[in-house]
Amino acid sequence: MTATALPQVVRDPALPERVTIYEVGPRDGLQNEQALVPTATKAEFVRRLVAAGLPIVESTSFVHPKWVPQLADAADLVDVLVADLGDTARDLPVLVPNERGLDRALEKGLRHVAIFGSATETFAQRNLNRSLDEQFAMFEPTVARAREHGLDVRAYVSMCFGDPWEGQVPMQQVVEVGRRLFDLGASQLSLGDTIGVGTAAHVTALLQAFNDAGLPNDSLAMHFHDTYGQALSNAAAALRCGITTFDASAGGLGGCPYAKSATGNLATEDLVWLLTGLGIEHGVDLEALVQTSTWMAGELGRPSPSAVVRALAQ
Ligand code: HMG
Ligand code: MG
Repeated sequence: MTATALPQVVRDPALPERVTIYEVGPRDGLQNEQALVPTATKAEFVRRLVAAGLPIVESTSFVHPKWVPQLADAADLVDVLVADLGDTARDLPVLVPNERGLDRALEKGLRHVAIFGSATETFAQRNLNRSLDEQFAMFEPTVARAREHGLDVRAYVSMCFGDPWEGQVPMQQVVEVGRRLFDLGASQLSLGDTIGVGTAAHVTALLQAFNDAGLPNDSLAMHFHDTYGQALSNAAAALRCGITTFDASAGGLGGCPYAKSATGNLATEDLVWLLTGLGIEHGVDLEALVQTSTWMAGELGRPSPSAVVRALAQ
């Protein structure tokens, strides 16, 4: 990278001083790939992301292997990561939908798990084979047992800004589902724009609705997909509201196999460029990250959709 390959820093005192990037590339990114990525390549991806300074890297999912064959090697991947990175690999979060998934995570001694609920009936059925209400019955004992074992639990809520089958999703419905998921015992609620349809004022209004319902900004994270090119603008809107945790995916990989209109996540590089320009601390080495995404794009056989990766890759 050349000296011009970083933005000029102009700090906005109204914005947070520090942001935590929650990297979801190995999970949200690779769950959606057509081809099965070898376990060794996934492990290399995770190692390189950790080495680039990403403080949290969600590594895989302990979901049903037939539902997401791309991540069927979850247990093997964790073994490789523990062998490579030592015990700290057990701090990398994984998705668990139910008690069976939790058991598999506990067998590996993992310390951070994430449940993932739906704000809409249709996506709950399609993604979890449960109704909107039944999902809580599945998550409740999962979170309770995870907490008994001393695990940290994150909760995702999907379809917060629109649903491909149901269209617009009432904000109050999103807040009710999110609040219920959080109250099961989560430390953080990640608000997912699964199909990337949200726009900036919608973000501001939804965050206000969550704040009004008693969930402060430090209990919330934003999870944007970039289907309609709004992810970075939405992240900027959330930053202005005071959100300090953002999910992002290296190289802009991502999607959800059970929501066909979902494309890649907000690219971590694009977020890092924005945060760097705003003088917001994030701890990530952009050059190492771009090299990682360029390498991964080569492994996957297609170029990264991230504008920053394309601009900086040599
Ligand atoms: P089900 O078929 O209803 O499962 O699937 P079940 O509870 O009826 O169990 C059936 C069999 O599956 C049993 O085995 C279970 O043991 C087994 P049998 O007794 O018949 O031999 N089983 C499992 N095996 C391994 N691991 C497990 C597991 N659970 C059950 N965890 C289930 C229900 C929830 C499991 C299924 O629907 C599933 O795995 N769904 C996951 C879908 C998924 O991973 N989607 C992508 C992640 S969500 C996302 O990407 C959105 C997000 O990024 C945020 C955003 O963008 O909005 C997070
Ligand atoms: Mg997602």
